[in-house]
Amino acid sequence: MSKLRVAFIGTGRVPEKAGPMGYAMAYSHADGYLALPDDVEMVAAADIRPENSQAFAERYGFSDTFTDYHEMLQEVKPDLVSICTWPHLHAEMIIACAEAGVSAVHCEKPVADKFGDAKRCVTACEEAGTKLTFAHQRRYGKPFATAHQMIHDGAIGTVQKIEIGVGDLFDYGSHNFDMANWFNDEGDTDWVLAGIDYSKENLIFGAHNENHALALWRYENGVFGLACTGDCGPSVGCHHRIIGSDGIIEIRNDTPVLRVLAAGKPWQEYDCDGESCHGPGFIERCIADVVDAIKTRRESMMNGRNALRATEQIFACWESVRRRGMVHLPLDIEDNPLTDMVERGELQPAKE
Ligand SMILES: NC(=O)c1ccc[n+]([C@@H]2O[C@H](COP(=O)([O-])OP(=O)(O)OC[C@H]3O[C@@H](n4cnc5c(N)ncnc54)[C@H](O)[C@@H]3O)[C@@H](O)[C@H]2O)c1
Repeated sequence: MSKLRVAFIGTGRVPEKAGPMGYAMAYSHADGYLALPDDVEMVAAADIRPENSQAFAERYGFSDTFTDYHEMLQEVKPDLVSICTWPHLHAEMIIACAEAGVSAVHCEKPVADKFGDAKRCVTACEEAGTKLTFAHQRRYGKPFATAHQMIHDGAIGTVQKIEIGVGDLFDYGSHNFDMANWFNDEGDTDWVLAGIDYSKENLIFGAHNENHALALWRYENGVFGLACTGDCGPSVGCHHRIIGSDGIIEIRNDTPVLRVLAAGKPWQEYDCDGESCHGPGFIERCIADVVDAIKTRRESMMNGRNALRATEQIFACWESVRRRGMVHLPLDIEDNPLTDMVERGELQPAKE
């Protein structure tokens, strides 16, 4: 197979300090492609800010830049498109790629800011035969991958409960739910019950994120999930905890990053070659897997259906708050319940 021709939608501008107003994730994607010179060639970028796409093109050694991504798709006809814009734009851009006949799309998380959009973009790609993946790259991090392998090897017996003690439900939560689902063999969820506090406006990449949350869910295979975020996080006390019939695995935002309590033994600590819960190397490995999956025509674990499973849990948490009750899946809504509650004045987060 010849080299995949890669284009970007939304390059960002390398920030002095990365944060919820911009990380320029396209640069991380591009560094991942740069490490695969035999497999990919970066050819074009579109950004509504031409200075952003031009600086990006200069950095990565190509010249084609556009302000209109539709025009780029028409003129360049890329094989693979990396989408690195904010969540409210993902669905329309993914669907445009599918309609333009792009073979593969690798999009940043979270999938979309409305559940209907999330479903629509996954379905559009399936119908068009476009391979869709999302950047839940933590699965390629050694602390998480080692824990996953231990679970698979039966080190803690049968998984009974997966706990999350960090972040939020949507922005960082997208990674966290995706990870919990991986630890539970991509199992589907039966129901979700959640409560949140949203007293101070918290816009991350333009989307509302609650300040604190407490969410419980039950997978169809009987495993429970628990997410405590914001100020509730310390009640869990680690990033992820997997409780099994014969032991416990903890992944921590601290050292040791991974520790395991297996039947009859004291806690065993693992430094995972110095990797933390955030890197290094996760994005590069993710990009390498996504490209390999395209070239070898296999499914990457970053696939759209896996990402949609996490998205459904997130929106089900907010829907549980809106309905003040337990929400059974599949989730039958199209909108974003948190945004809806803010717009109707049911939640009134104070602006700074
Ligand atoms: N995977 C991770 O760990 C991780 C980390 C940080 C951010 N993210 C996600 O990455 C995504 C992008 O975040 P970022 O920080 O890179 O954003 P950013 O603000 O740095 O870059 C976004 C770019 O999109 C451009 N843009 C906006 N509208 C456009 C349009 N219609 N057409 C073309 N370009 C357009 C903007 O001009 C900007 O240059 C978000 O969804 C965010 O949640 C993921």
